[in-house]
Amino acid sequence: MAKDVIVALDFARAEETLAFLDGFKDEKPYVKIGMELFYGEGPQIVREIEARGHKIFLDLKLHDIPNTVGKAMAVLSGLDIDMVNLHAAGGSEMMKAALKGLTRADGSRPLLIAVTQLTSTTEEVMQRELLIERPLAEVVMDYAENAAGAGLDGVVCSPREARAVHERCGAGFLTVTPGVRFAGGDTQDQKRVMTPEAAAREGADYIVVGRPITQAADPQAAYARCIREFLG
Ligand code: C5P
Repeated sequence: MAKDVIVALDFARAEETLAFLDGFKDEKPYVKIGMELFYGEGPQIVREIEARGHKIFLDLKLHDIPNTVGKAMAVLSGLDIDMVNLHAAGGSEMMKAALKGLTRADGSRPLLIAVTQLTSTTEEVMQRELLIERPLAEVVMDYAENAAGAGLDGVVCSPREARAVHERCGAGFLTVTPGVRFAGGDTQDQKRVMTPEAAAREGADYIVVGRPITQAADPQAAYARCIREFLG
């Protein structure tokens, strides 16, 4: 299974996003497009970045009734993206409908990844507000297992959870892990971070890296360092 660094394009507008990508000459980093850029610029920004030769993880975290998610996924798979995600909290029926919707006429489809619990959700909030009276770590693992059972390709998780997810759901079940920082780098709002090297040791398949690359003085050098440390 191909391992890679995915650069989070957390920009508001197309202009700054494309200017950032222009800085890369021969390399075409795998990129993540999130809600801000997608809602601001629409599907055209996805087509434009795809046409430049980048692989794309569309991070829209769908969560709705199975019929709606299935139809929305069918539209998204027409964009030629490589990876997309949804909330495992939508349930197995929704996840299966999403997979069906994503599958193109020729049988190909983007990878489908599940969000288990958002890292912004604390165990206390999950128990008190979502009324899930279980330890958070157990819920994350059970949701990952539900996603695997529904036929999904993997989960978004902390690099700290990658090993346990692989043990529970299989080595081929992908772990896509944000919260990555260079040794000694600014952690910003991320609470529990890992270096690219440590994430690789824990078995992460893809690391999602934003500000350590997008806000570096030399983004190309930061990307190259990330690749070097993660892929060895
Ligand atoms: O700048 P930074 O490296 O923190 O960016 C990480 C990216 O991964 C952001 O786009 C953020 O929204 C996303 N993400 C995250 N934690 C999650 C899920 C997604 O940081 N649990």
